[in-house]
Amino acid sequence: MTRVVRVDPEHPDPARLAEAGAVLRSGGLVAFPTETVYGLGANALDPAAVARIFAAKGRPAHDPLIVHIAAVDEAARVAAAVPERARALWARFAPGPLTLILPKHPAVPAAVTAGKPTVAVRIPAHPVALGLIRAAGVPIAAPSANKFGHTSPTTAQHVLDDLGAAVDWILDAGPTPVGVESTIVDVTVDPPALLRPGGVPREALEDALGGPVVWRGDVVAAEDVRAPGMLPRHYAPRVPLWLFEGPRAWAREALWQTAAQLARGQGQRVGALVPHADAARLRPLGVVVADLGPEHDPAGMARRLFAGLRDLEAAGVEVILARTVAEQDVGLAIADRLRRAAAHIVRPASRAVAS
Ligand code: TXA
Ligand code: MG
Repeated sequence: MTRVVRVDPEHPDPARLAEAGAVLRSGGLVAFPTETVYGLGANALDPAAVARIFAAKGRPAHDPLIVHIAAVDEAARVAAAVPERARALWARFAPGPLTLILPKHPAVPAAVTAGKPTVAVRIPAHPVALGLIRAAGVPIAAPSANKFGHTSPTTAQHVLDDLGAAVDWILDAGPTPVGVESTIVDVTVDPPALLRPGGVPREALEDALGGPVVWRGDVVAAEDVRAPGMLPRHYAPRVPLWLFEGPRAWAREALWQTAAQLARGQGQRVGALVPHADAARLRPLGVVVADLGPEHDPAGMARRLFAGLRDLEAAGVEVILARTVAEQDVGLAIADRLRRAAAHIVRPASRAVAS
C-alpha cells in the first residue's frame, strides 16, 4: 500500500522525515519533492533498492540515475574526485537545480551509473529533499518519479497517477517551485559540457566558471546515450504534440490557423499549451487551453509546463499545439522539453517536418 504523507514544504515534520528515512534505509522507495520535480528515491548504496526504481519506472538499465546528497562535503562518499570546476559551480549553485557529472566512487553500485565510470551528483534545494537525505543518512538515487518516457511529475498526484502502488511512500509538499529538471553539466570534460538545460541557466554557469559551457543538445545523435534525457521524444505526453517553431508572430498565427482548421474544419478535440497572450483567441475555437502565464516570465512558464501537458492529456484532447518561447535563462530548458515532447515540428519554410 502506498502511503501519501502531507508535509509542510518549508518546515517538514522531523518525525515524518525520520520515518521516511527509515523506509529508505530498509530498501524501500520514497517519492519526494525537490525544487525541480518529484523524485523516486532509493538508497543509492543498495543495489536491490536501486533495482526497484528501474522496475517501478519501466526504465532501461542503460539509463543512469542521479545521486542526491545534502551538502558538498558528502560528495566524497559518491565521487572519486571533486574537480575545482565542480567546487566553483557548487559554491554558487548548491543547493540548487544543478547536477554535476563526476568520476564515480567504487562504493556506488554499477546499477546506479549504468556501468559508467562517472556518477551524476546533485544537492537539491527543497527543504523536504534535504531533510529526507539527512534523515536517511545515505545518498539517495532518484530519477524523476514518472513512468519512463512520460512527462516529469510536479505534484504528488502526478506521481500517484504514474507509479501508484509501486512506491512505498509519497511525501506530498505541493507543487514543485521550478517545474523543469536540473541542469546537467559534465565537468569531467574540458570545456565542461551542458548535457541537459534546466533550472540553472547556461548563462549563469558560464559566468560562474568564467568560460564556455558547450551545449551540444541541438545536434546530439539519436544513438548517443550519454544522457538519454537528451534523446528526441524523451519527455513525451501521451497525445501527439505539434510544436510551432520560428519567429514569434509567425508561430502564433500558424498555431491559431492550425487550431481553427483542426477544431472547426475537422471537428477534432484540440489542446493548446501556450503563453497567456495566445489563450483568449484560441478559446472561442473550442480549444482546451493550458495557460503558461505571461511570456515575459519564463520561470512561471517552466513551473506550469509539465502540469499543463498532463492537464491536456487528462482533458482527452487528440492533439496538443504548442509554440516555442525565447531561449534565454530557463527558456532554453522550456524549448528543449517542448522539442523532446514534439511528434512534429512545424517551421515557416517547411511547414511540416517530422522531428
Ligand atoms: O531535477 C532533476 O534532476 C530530477 C530530480 C528528481 O532531482 N531528477 C531527474 O532524474 O531528472 P532523471 O533520471 O529523470 O534524469 C537524469 C538524467 C538522465 O537523462 C540520465 O541519463 C542522466 O541524468 N545521467 C545520469 N547519470 C549520468 C552520467 N553518469 N553521465 C551522463 N548522464 C547521466
Ligand atoms: Mg526523468
